Amino acid sequence: MAWAVIPPEPQPVVAPHLTDYSTIRAGFSWDAARGWLDGLPDGGLNIVHEAVDRHVAQGRGARVALRFLGEGGVDRELTYAELAEQTARFADVLAGLGIGRGDRVFGLMGRLPDLYVAILGTLRRGAVFCPLFSAFGPEPVRQRLQLGHGRVLVTTPSLYRRKVAPIRDEVPDLEAVLLSGGGPGAADVPGGRDLAALLAAASPGGAVAATTAEDPALLHFTSGTTGRPKGAVHVHGAVVAHHMTARYVLDLHDDDVFWCTADPGWVTGTSYGVVAPLTCGVTCVVDEAELDVDRWYRILEEQRVTVWYTAPTALRMLMKAGVERVAGHDLSHVRHIASVGEPLNPEVVVWGQEAFGRPVHDTWWQTETGAIMIANYPGVEIRPGSMGRPVPGIEAALVARDADAKPLRTPDGGPVFVTDPDVEGELSLRAPWPSMMRAYLDEPERYAKAFVGEWYLTGDLARRDADGWFWFVGRGDDVIKSAGHLIGPFEVESALMEHPAVAEAGAIGVPDPMAGEVVKAFVALRPAYQASDELRLELIGFGRKRLGPAVAPRDIAFQQDLPKTRSGKIMRRLLKARELGLPEGDLSTLEGTSEGARQ
Ligand code: WT7
Repeated sequence: MAWAVIPPEPQPVVAPHLTDYSTIRAGFSWDAARGWLDGLPDGGLNIVHEAVDRHVAQGRGARVALRFLGEGGVDRELTYAELAEQTARFADVLAGLGIGRGDRVFGLMGRLPDLYVAILGTLRRGAVFCPLFSAFGPEPVRQRLQLGHGRVLVTTPSLYRRKVAPIRDEVPDLEAVLLSGGGPGAADVPGGRDLAALLAAASPGGAVAATTAEDPALLHFTSGTTGRPKGAVHVHGAVVAHHMTARYVLDLHDDDVFWCTADPGWVTGTSYGVVAPLTCGVTCVVDEAELDVDRWYRILEEQRVTVWYTAPTALRMLMKAGVERVAGHDLSHVRHIASVGEPLNPEVVVWGQEAFGRPVHDTWWQTETGAIMIANYPGVEIRPGSMGRPVPGIEAALVARDADAKPLRTPDGGPVFVTDPDVEGELSLRAPWPSMMRAYLDEPERYAKAFVGEWYLTGDLARRDADGWFWFVGRGDDVIKSAGHLIGPFEVESALMEHPAVAEAGAIGVPDPMAGEVVKAFVALRPAYQASDELRLELIGFGRKRLGPAVAPRDIAFQQDLPKTRSGKIMRRLLKARELGLPEGDLSTLEGTSEGARQ
């Protein structure tokens, strides 16, 4: 006899936390939001207390905090109580290695339980965690480990072999390598230790470090137009903004099952894949695998995901696969969908409505801002194509720029704001707020340059309509955005120039229907080398090997006369305009000869 069909339970109606934008915004204060959290007994603040221990103390330790879906089908769960214990063990391991307040622990791993234990265990210890994306090649790994003076690295034997071993001699600060899932390999790795053995031997009961709200907690490297990656330093106090936005923007409620698809190697994956949802006591789904259309729909269905935070590139891929792929899945429990990282096309917002019965809510923020700054909210009208309005506690404005893309200043040094509706300006935010970066690591001047007075300049261009909705226009600089990841052209160019054939290189983003942009590099060859298809493929391979697939150029073109300014800087803007057949704009700084040489 067949089982009777059990009809789906009617979904409880969940009223959004943010019901009336203007009223909540008007009544909001960061002090009040701080009061939604516990704090430490001595007045301090530690992310792990708010994300983990607090729930255990309140009798909710048996709730699943993280549910890991393994690539090979093996799933694991960690309850809040287990997470408290595991992170205490990890903190004790660090103590045993002599790692304490402010020391830097790096992670280079896929989305496996040990990564999450390492992130939170490091914060529990009062040390600083710096995640590296596992699709980085040895070059980005070296740069970041060097700049951040990483003393401990948590990784797997296979990632170590491929990404760290080639550059190990160049990172002398690295003392210990904690290998996840790899006992036997540890002996061959300088400073190598078997993480599982260390955790098993460690003490499970240690308290959270007595950090203050201003103690550094996370270090996230991000890319600029020139020079080395910038290390954005975030503090424990950021948790106030994480928690607030998790409630008001992601609308997390106690019983939610939340899936943030971002990797903790990027800021979204730590802020909203770990910290923010755990402060709300929800269950987080973590999938080890990369995007796969049917797998994703199965996860949404089987895990009974209620709130889903993902990215435009992913949504575009799902959309391309066709709405009929959703049809066989019961996704009625999905209550709220949000997206971040790159422009969200209005078609995708509307497609969400068709495919899931829910529109996609665009949110905007950056590594530097630490938390969502501009957003669309459940229960509030959406204008498809708009990033929405600033979150409570955040004041956003547009700053006018001069012909050199520098912010215009009033005679007393303050910013000149764009006040008319629908006029472009540089999106700027009034500091401070709890999750604002506190520094670019070791680069005070670079940090200072990001501000005009108390206004932080984001580097993005935007417009604001007459009702206060913000609309993204584009990056105000040469940084490339591919599949939601920021890529510094300088990093790409520097790596290519390590190849003996390359005299000069210029990297730009070219439009791609799925990833938004992909990296294309233009290369001028040294005299002894001839352009050939073979060399082109070799350079593409060289780029991938050095930089890893997340950063490397997808395409390379040879061009002997790269356009340069008179001071010798490659004009990526012009390379891009020529590549795309766009107006070439102001050429007054172009080096005299190259204009002629191009003809
Ligand atoms: C840059 C920040 C923090 C999220 C992960 C990326 C672009 C982000 C949007 C959006 C258009 C967006 C901006 C921003 N961006 N969100 N909703 N619409 N563009 O963090 O790597 O620091 O990148 O991503 O250009 O400045 P990130």
